[in-house]
Amino acid sequence: MTYMVARAALRRPRFKDNPASMGRGARGGRAASRAPLQAILCRNAGFSRQILTIPVPLPHECGVPGGLDAALEGRRFVPLTLDTRHSTLDTRMNVSNRRWGWYVRSLPNLARSRALFLARNHTMTSFIRCKVLWDLCQEQLQRKVPGAFVECGVWRGGSAMVMGLAARKANPVPPLHLFDSFEGLPEPDGNDGAKAAQYSDGKVGGKLLSIAKCQASLEQVKSALFEQARLSPANVVFHQGWFQNTVPAQAGSIGAISVLRLDGDWYASTKICLEHLYPRLGRDGIVILDDYFLWEGCRKAAQEYRQTSGISDPIIPVDEDCAYWRKTSAGS
Ligand SMILES: C[S@@+](CC[C@H](N)C(=O)[O-])C[C@H]1O[C@@H](n2cnc3c(N)ncnc32)[C@H](O)[C@@H]1O
Repeated sequence: MTYMVARAALRRPRFKDNPASMGRGARGGRAASRAPLQAILCRNAGFSRQILTIPVPLPHECGVPGGLDAALEGRRFVPLTLDTRHSTLDTRMNVSNRRWGWYVRSLPNLARSRALFLARNHTMTSFIRCKVLWDLCQEQLQRKVPGAFVECGVWRGGSAMVMGLAARKANPVPPLHLFDSFEGLPEPDGNDGAKAAQYSDGKVGGKLLSIAKCQASLEQVKSALFEQARLSPANVVFHQGWFQNTVPAQAGSIGAISVLRLDGDWYASTKICLEHLYPRLGRDGIVILDDYFLWEGCRKAAQEYRQTSGISDPIIPVDEDCAYWRKTSAGS
């Protein structure tokens, strides 16, 4: 993985210097050529003089063999490694929280840069998680792992946007299945621990009632995916409702799954999705748990499921919250 580090002071991109360039690349098809776009962006971002490329391995590229214990062991180094590396880059580049940071940091892959830039206002995940998500989706397509891309826990649709854009040019385009209540998180339960109880203001009955956290409507998501990212509605299937009702009833309609992204935070939300969707993941399919290190209920559900299903595929940390594994056997 390569990061671009500019020594020149980063100044605000000035598209008004060159109005003809504004939005061209970011709108995709309208750009006549990508090379001039990159030149314009670099020039406008003040990069034209000194660009340095530094190869840095990401945690997800350093596989953590040896199963769960090793993965948890591996976790200890991840935040440290990431924090150290990113704080260095961020203070030098001073772009992490800037408007253009998500774009600039994923250059030189312009399709990915564009996707991440578009997604940044529609996701609560991190830049690194979105970048790894794009790379994993692309890898699945290159390896020709058949099946749909699925996300359970969509919120405003940022991660779904990354998945959809990564698949847009595939032939055939895998369908994107999106499960959410589109009314926010339900109550956690006793398996989710004290942090979740605090977050839900003490509502821990596990009831399928919105606690008014992580709320976004279906219309918001449709606008993000179809108007802003310009994905084709023909490739996206929405499953609206509580996972406990929609997932068991509709899993059968999905067919094989290539990428399964679980981002429902709680124990019960993760468990129901693993039970009904993981068996649909084909050999070499990937399951991503956005909250594996963040919410104890999510981690508990995953650990229990791995144990009861005899799964020993290594868990690979992405950052301080997220992890994934690749299914190496065709069974459950
Ligand atoms: C953390 S947000 C998802 C973030 C999103 N993936 C992103 O990229 O920013 C969690 C989502 O899961 C949904 N969710 C959690 N548990 C659910 C359940 N049991 N049924 C339906 N939706 C659920 C919530 O409505 C919320 O939209």
